[in-house]
Amino acid sequence: AFTPRVFSGIQPSGGLTLGNYLGALKRFADAQDKGIETIYCMVDLHAITVWQDPAKLRHATRELCAGFIASGVDPQKSILFNQSQVAEHAQMAWIFNCVARMGWMKRMTQFKDKAGKNAENASLGLFGYPALMAADILVYHATHVPVGEDQKQHLELTRDIAMKFNHDYGVDFFPITEPVIEGAATRVMSLRDGSKKMSKSDPSDMSRINLTDDADTIAKKIRKAKTDPEPLPSEVEGLENRPEARNLINIFAALSDQTVDQVMAEVGGKAFSEFKPMLADLAVAQMSPISTEMSRLMQDTAEIDRILEAGADRARAIAAPILQRTYDIVGM
Ligand code: ADP
Ligand code: NA
Repeated sequence: AFTPRVFSGIQPSGGLTLGNYLGALKRFADAQDKGIETIYCMVDLHAITVWQDPAKLRHATRELCAGFIASGVDPQKSILFNQSQVAEHAQMAWIFNCVARMGWMKRMTQFKDKAGKNAENASLGLFGYPALMAADILVYHATHVPVGEDQKQHLELTRDIAMKFNHDYGVDFFPITEPVIEGAATRVMSLRDGSKKMSKSDPSDMSRINLTDDADTIAKKIRKAKTDPEPLPSEVEGLENRPEARNLINIFAALSDQTVDQVMAEVGGKAFSEFKPMLADLAVAQMSPISTEMSRLMQDTAEIDRILEAGADRARAIAAPILQRTYDIVGM
């Protein structure tokens, strides 16, 4: 039996949105109070699988750390650190490069999406990314990983690597990590197009709420969010086939810690001219303290670096003995 332990990571690739907050950061903060050890990582080694400007990477790593803390992840309660500062990730990844099979890796759909037509020119790191992700998780013997839809296949690969290692070496050493799948209500869609995920890479800034947006900007983006001309339906079922309305209701539910049913009981039948100001007030109340706290934290980057170093020390204390035992098993 393995001690329950949660691991998750986010790439410091610049810019955090309401989607990252509701789908990841807020859930990470909620998980840390459940008596289970929580380990959260800025995965800079993953970020450089595609080109990163060095100064921007350094800034994005600190800003992501500020985003975690401002969202409620407490560096005393959780282990919060930067991947490249704990060498055991890369060391374990090499072992797993030798466990994973070419055929497994070639089936990873995200590589195909990210590399696009020019796969011959993609980095070897982008191809090997899922083996590093397996190392991130298994170097802590993490038993649970909160994942979005897009990472499910990679977590399957992590489980395959753990099983093959255990089988090949005749050990019961790595846990078979369980996914913690996010609910539909935490998949936040674009404010301009209800069929697209809210994303930092969307060219339209009006499509997303950034964690760095101030109160006026947040309110404006919600006022201007795309909707259909009908008022909100009176029943939950009426949200079907109305993706923009559904998205705004989901956001309201997630921000107020209510179910969609509870929200609909309160706002069902209202016109958007009445509902949007309610949502704007709620979003400003929840999100603008986060942006204020992020900018306060970013004024003292030395303090952020100190927090990340302390987190790396704690992470290493868990990872180093697990890597040593792995080397022993392998005969090194
Ligand atoms: P990464 O490449 O590190 O996954 P992303 O910015 O795509 O970076 O996502 C970071 C985290 O935020 C992931 O856990 C992802 O599932 C979550 N996330 C990103 N966008 C959304 C969204 N629109 N709705 C819900 N969760 C999201
Ligand atoms: Na992603």
